[in-house]
Amino acid sequence: MPKLIVTLRDGTTQEIEGEEGLSVMEVIRDAGIDELLALCGGCCSCATCHIHVDPAFADRLPAMSEDENDLLDSSDFRDETSRLSCQVPFSAAVDGLAVRIAEED
Ligand code: FES
Repeated sequence: MPKLIVTLRDGTTQEIEGEEGLSVMEVIRDAGIDELLALCGGCCSCATCHIHVDPAFADRLPAMSEDENDLLDSSDFRDETSRLSCQVPFSAAVDGLAVRIAEED
């Protein structure tokens, strides 16, 4: 299974494996990492699944929708690497993807 490298808010890093076809949020949640709240369950309406993505992978991810863009604007910690992890599909095409869980708003 493809790997996802997740940096937690305390700076520690975990390497986890994820099933293709899940979202990055689901891969993180299924690994038991609970600091990514993902309160809306992945329907792009809460912004509590905010992550920062390694810029090296940016061109392999689908473009952001208008809804995702608007929701990210509600975060004080948005930067050019921000994405909502429920909107980022996980697959072998992004094997080794490195993400950092965003600061809590
Ligand atoms: S889980 Fe709510 S926007 Fe991603």
